[in-house]
Amino acid sequence: MNIILATQNRGKVEEFKRIFTDCPVKLSSIFDYGITLEPEETGSTFSENAQIKLEYYLETLQKNKYYDSSQKNLLLAEDSGIEIKALNGEPGVLSARYGGEGLDSADRNNLILKKMKDVAPENRKARFVCCIKVAYIETDIVYEFIEYSEGIIMDDIYGSKGFGYDPIFKPLGYNVSMGSLEPEIKDKISHRGLASKKLIKKILDER
Ligand code: IMP
Repeated sequence: MNIILATQNRGKVEEFKRIFTDCPVKLSSIFDYGITLEPEETGSTFSENAQIKLEYYLETLQKNKYYDSSQKNLLLAEDSGIEIKALNGEPGVLSARYGGEGLDSADRNNLILKKMKDVAPENRKARFVCCIKVAYIETDIVYEFIEYSEGIIMDDIYGSKGFGYDPIFKPLGYNVSMGSLEPEIKDKISHRGLASKKLIKKILDER
């Protein structure tokens, strides 16, 4: 089976490649097909945005027959982000664009730290959310997997591993930031790792 990752985010591609290492599938991404266009994420939930990405790339792949039809082909779209309780759930679906265009991850992390500078430790709860939607390219049959990773927002930036909000997020049960964890540990507890685990189980069950 081929899985085509429908994401323009290289951090996510790297993680999915790691997570699927032991799963008997061939993984590629839309980068491999030279696709660089992105749909506008107009949804108000992670699920709606994952569906928008899924439909957009499904149409592109089907129109251009960008897949090997001698095998089963699964298109994988993912929408994820972080929800911070003290910020009423923000950044949420706006995680990639929080604070406006022109900011990088470090700027966004600093913006959050600034907004939360007076928030007491017990009120710094946050969670990562990952919604994976997959579609069999030949049949359009869709499945959805949602998972969460709970934790708190730290008081500063720690660690240089991972991407995005990893350096300011401390996962529940750990004493360091997600950005300080070894990638294999992150994969075990992350929203993306947990949602992928459900998908891998489905793929293996269907074999
Ligand atoms: P999107 O799903 O492409 O709209 O973007 C998700 C955004 O949420 C990313 O650009 C990151 O800022 C953030 N995000 C999602 N997953 C993670 C993660 O595993 N670690 C850190 N940040 C993440």
